[in-house]
Amino acid sequence: MEYLERRRDRVEERLEAVLDSVEPEELADEVRHVALSGGKRVRPTVTVLVCEALGGEPADAVDFAVGIELVHNASLVIDDIIDESELRRGSPAAWEAFGHGPAIIASDGLLGEAFNLFSTDERAMQTVSESMVELGEGEAMELVAEPSNEKEYMELARRKTGALFRAAAELGAIAADSDPYTVEAVGQYAERVGVAFQMRDDVLDATADAETLGKPAGTDAEMERPSLVEVTELTTEEANERARAESDAALESLSTIDAPESQSMEYLRDLAEFVVVRER
Ligand code: IPE
Ligand code: IPE
Ligand code: MG
Ligand code: MG
Repeated sequence: MEYLERRRDRVEERLEAVLDSVEPEELADEVRHVALSGGKRVRPTVTVLVCEALGGEPADAVDFAVGIELVHNASLVIDDIIDESELRRGSPAAWEAFGHGPAIIASDGLLGEAFNLFSTDERAMQTVSESMVELGEGEAMELVAEPSNEKEYMELARRKTGALFRAAAELGAIAADSDPYTVEAVGQYAERVGVAFQMRDDVLDATADAETLGKPAGTDAEMERPSLVEVTELTTEEANERARAESDAALESLSTIDAPESQSMEYLRDLAEFVVVRER
């Protein structure tokens, strides 16, 4: 466990330094409230582990890792406004704490800081931009082009969650200066991890409580959101099995990568298994 903690600490340190540079102080307080309130840091962990698994150093990946976490956090601020969700990571959601206007400005500020970290690298910019197009389309689909069957649900999950996971992994590969084939392969692995992650998220929304989750439970049913459980007739056990199948597919993609066995590779396999059994 110490292995992962060391890497997460590096990301955390850099994240804090980036947020400390934000002006004015009011905006800095808001972005700190959002970004330093205890996220799981799954996406930046993917970035660092992929980079190392492909022969790079953690230091090569840390800026991209922080950048992708910031994009994720910006998307959560907006998601909570759309879902009228008052709790995030066990704290008041940004709109609840500061009001809608400041929350939107905080989200923009987070995105600005993120792009500052990608701007030195053209490949990174391209990967992140593509994933944000997908994310935006996914969020829009959720509201206006709701899926009505499992296949359409999978496409929604790929866009709104899989795409950012894909970018997280591809950034790690880019930081390790991998060839395009490898970049695509780790991207496919992570996209599938992300889809499995969202499937499990939908199960937890239906089965867990707000205290454990750090965010409201039961929102998907209440708001009639197209979660896996809402869209299909699947029981939560069956939905968990579907998530497990997606996680297996992710492992399949990971096994196609031509990289030596390493501890980071082992953690990437663990991660695919963790996301479908997680309790928060
Ligand atoms: C929440 O993501 C949004 C989904 C894609 C379900 P996380 O569960 O990774 O949120 P944090 O970063 O740990 O708070
Ligand atoms: C994740 O979906 C949406 C994003 C892409 C930000 P959810 O709406 O299920 O996320 P939670 O449950 O609020 O974290
Ligand atoms: Mg939500
Ligand atoms: Mg959810």
